[in-house]
Amino acid sequence: MKYFLEAKDLGVIDEPTTVGIGGDPGCTDYIKIYLKISQNDIIEDAKAQVFGCHVAVACTSAYLQLIKNKNIRDAVNIKSKDVVKEVGGLSDKKTHCSELGPLALENAISDYLINKLYATQEDS
Ligand code: FES
Repeated sequence: MKYFLEAKDLGVIDEPTTVGIGGDPGCTDYIKIYLKISQNDIIEDAKAQVFGCHVAVACTSAYLQLIKNKNIRDAVNIKSKDVVKEVGGLSDKKTHCSELGPLALENAISDYLINKLYATQEDS
């Protein structure tokens, strides 16, 4: 409840480094995550729009706090089980709400790495 009532970092980042979407086809809820990533791959800022239930809002807020100021390699290793632990547990029916953040991050980081690879090839 605390993460829902005091949800942090909901919204967008102007000129993000990368953006990713993570959704659940079962309930159709999804989030869009915005990341500002430094040259040395640190997530300097993270925000998200949540198009989903109140548990998705709470889980996304908790997830954003967990990934901020982390290297992207460490951030992708923060999984839904870590979110469930952070929010104090979820019922089986709501566990999928904790998976939206990690899914969105994986998509955002994939795009980021592909763009970085293309930029490197253009420079050489
Ligand atoms: Fe589907 Fe919460 S994200 S019910």
